[in-house]
Amino acid sequence: PSVPASPRLTSSSSPPERKSSIIKAVLFDLPAAQSVRYVPDGLLVIEAGQVKAFGSYGALQHQYADVPMTHYLDRLIVPGFVDTHIHFPQTEMIAAFGTQLLDWLERYTFPTEAKFKDPDYAQRITAFFLDELLKNGTTTALVYGTVHPESVEAFFAEAERRQLRMIAGKVMMDRHAPDYLCDTPESSYAESKRLIERWHGRGRLHYAVTPRFAVTSSAEQLRLAGQLLAEFPDVYLQTHISENLHEVAWVGSLFPEAQDYLDVYDRAGLVGDRSVFAHGIHLSDREWARLHAAKSAIAFCPTSNLFLGSGLFQLKQACDRAIKVGLGTDVGGGTSFSLLQTAAEGYKVCQLQQHTLSAFQALFLATLGGARALSLDAQIGSFDVGKEADFTVLHPRATPLLALRNPQGTPESLEALADRLFSTIMLGCDRVVWATHILGESVYQQVSI
Ligand code: GUN
Ligand code: ZN
Repeated sequence: PSVPASPRLTSSSSPPERKSSIIKAVLFDLPAAQSVRYVPDGLLVIEAGQVKAFGSYGALQHQYADVPMTHYLDRLIVPGFVDTHIHFPQTEMIAAFGTQLLDWLERYTFPTEAKFKDPDYAQRITAFFLDELLKNGTTTALVYGTVHPESVEAFFAEAERRQLRMIAGKVMMDRHAPDYLCDTPESSYAESKRLIERWHGRGRLHYAVTPRFAVTSSAEQLRLAGQLLAEFPDVYLQTHISENLHEVAWVGSLFPEAQDYLDVYDRAGLVGDRSVFAHGIHLSDREWARLHAAKSAIAFCPTSNLFLGSGLFQLKQACDRAIKVGLGTDVGGGTSFSLLQTAAEGYKVCQLQQHTLSAFQALFLATLGGARALSLDAQIGSFDVGKEADFTVLHPRATPLLALRNPQGTPESLEALADRLFSTIMLGCDRVVWATHILGESVYQQVSI
């Protein structure tokens, strides 16, 4: 196979036709954390954007002889990646030098987020951001807007046009931020409510109530966020928790009545089975136990945690306690849109704690594990019949180095597959994403010379 030239984004302005198609390739998914479903000579049959059949070419080809087939030779197809924590307005300030969380927010983040009052600007960055997700094989994400409802309007409109399964919300933030970025408890409640009524459940879109973190919300604002969750029980809650030690200490002094950081959110009714907390690096035993009891999820964001010097997330602890975990890029605190690179840094974070993250476990976190963390495992995350056909075509020999590392031909055992996947994760980036399909349709395809 040839080395890819510059990537091209295929037009996605017209909705995919509700037709049948077949993909032939090496296919695998992770139907559970400890199990791999590997079909070296596989067929994926898609009808009306959903998986109609998944199995071996030999078993299925006769049944679907008339259906048009795309053959991805020497490629690995996996379910689309799920990013459980990312800020679209921070795209342009990724990789900002020299500071840790609280200073980084003031110096870089807040001035950048101020630009999103302008709907045209928000639209332009949204389009760039969604192109970047698709180039990296990410098909679903839980996304922060800014405090401006315009930012979320722009995001949902563009995601709807591309028929993507996305969750997003307007930041609620009424203190400890510049005046030009602050709302009030009442305005944040009313604006969030309007956005929920307009967008939640429309097509493949969902709303997440989004208090930025306990530092930037008054108790009254958190209470009103909880009221929104009570009024709309199937919307999500996303926020940050226990990322940085200075932040944790500040939250302790702002909310002296709370037992700990999680309790600040709990007292406002924000800790439930649709709550996704980013980071969770410095959690107490009580907080871990409470997250488990509440069936809440954590977004593990290793590139961000290393870049901002926040600390090492204890993935083993989360797994031992059966807490739902997904991977988050946390762009722009995170330094890559790629969930492959994110998984690679996650592997190193585990290594520093004498814990070994396998390639399959890492891919589980990036696919069905992430879908579970977002309560979307009935819709996405694996090739189960009836699921939405969002998937990613990987090219494990995309660069000269990868071609040297990975021999030609199909892996003949699970060990060989694990080795190929591991090297693709460790050395991978957007160049190993050969194509991305949404509801069965190719929306991104690298161009070969
Ligand atoms: N805590 C509060 N806001 C943010 C943010 O924008 N990024 C990260 N990484 N942490 C936060
Ligand atoms: Zn974040």
